[in-house]
Amino acid sequence: MTILGIESSCDETSASVIEAKNNDKKVTILSNVVASSLRIHAKTGGIIPENAAREQVKYIIPVITKALKDSNLYPPSSKNYLQSSTIYRPNIDAIAVTVGPGLIGSLLVGVETAKTLAYVWQKPIIPVNHLIGHIYANFIRESSKFKVQSSKSDTEVSFPAISLIVSGAHTDLVLMKKHGDLQLIGGTRDDAAGECFDKCARLLGYDYPGGPKISQLAEKGNPKAFQLPRPMTDSKDFDFSFSGLKAAFMRLVNETFSITNTPVSKNFRWKHIALEETLSESKKQILSDLCASLEQAIVDVLVSKTLKVAQKYKVKSILLGGGVAANQKLRTDLQSSIINLKSSIKFFAPPKSLCTDNAAMIASAAFFNHKPVPWQNLTANPELYFN
Ligand code: KG4
Ligand code: ZN
Repeated sequence: MTILGIESSCDETSASVIEAKNNDKKVTILSNVVASSLRIHAKTGGIIPENAAREQVKYIIPVITKALKDSNLYPPSSKNYLQSSTIYRPNIDAIAVTVGPGLIGSLLVGVETAKTLAYVWQKPIIPVNHLIGHIYANFIRESSKFKVQSSKSDTEVSFPAISLIVSGAHTDLVLMKKHGDLQLIGGTRDDAAGECFDKCARLLGYDYPGGPKISQLAEKGNPKAFQLPRPMTDSKDFDFSFSGLKAAFMRLVNETFSITNTPVSKNFRWKHIALEETLSESKKQILSDLCASLEQAIVDVLVSKTLKVAQKYKVKSILLGGGVAANQKLRTDLQSSIINLKSSIKFFAPPKSLCTDNAAMIASAAFFNHKPVPWQNLTANPELYFN
């Protein structure tokens, strides 16, 4: 089976073709094209939904065309197909598209394009929840191009599994008893982990998304240098809260560099001048220590809750997903804590390039949850969550 995936829930426009046989436990990527409008959002300090959708309208057709070309499905071998009165239909079995959650304007670009193509090409269409898509980045077969990290030589996911989805808008723990049987166990009560990274980075003058920048600075810092809270690690449920940690970090930065309401703070927040650029070498080390302490606090909370839920539900696999899953500290700490448990739990994290939004994960989710709908019934749902 060959599926064309389309993803446009936030700032990325992506199309991908994947291939798998009926009994396959993983899918193979034939192409995966991602166009990002990040540079535009960096200027505005965050995503302005209308700007994102306007960019996606420009990119969606070229991105889909490139994905079909890269997978050798387009153009057809006959050279005069453009003159032909018959419609060219690529050799795919279905179209998968993200229907939510996300920004409504952005979602509509993908959904309406997918509906049109499904109608013209006479192909079935499979709606996909973006968050479930992040989980299915773990079901993409290893290749030299897309290496999937696994703690075991056995690369097959065993159920029940727990997925930690950590993105810019979500921090969710999802129990998976089998394909199609998903249950939300915990989520964030306020900010998501990625949002905490991004907003703390913004305070330091970095453009959106600041998570990778904090992580880069943290590499040179001491994670024990500053004390920051680990919110809700002792709570009996599996929920998260990151807004208090964000506020504590902001207070610490303001105290350490005495920057509240000075012209410097106004400059680096609004004129895209990073605080780092205004600091001496010794103070730059303090900044790295602050970032390392923040990253460690976020990672500690994520690891502790994931291990607790894994033990409670006696899971056989732990799966990471979402943009923050690209964070090396999170990958390493989670993997080593699983090893320390001396259990047989398998650990999976998608290749870093497939952690952030992409259409391959959407097509992968569609392969394992093959529920086509008539194109007329397809609607975008920005509020979509887990049932
Ligand atoms: O999944 P994603 O691409 O988009 C959403 O669905 O939200 O996730 C984007 C998030 C941003 O918050 C970004 O800062 C974060 O993922 N992120 C990281 C790293 N790479 C991306 N956060 C921390 N460390 C990273 N290396
Ligand atoms: Zn995402």
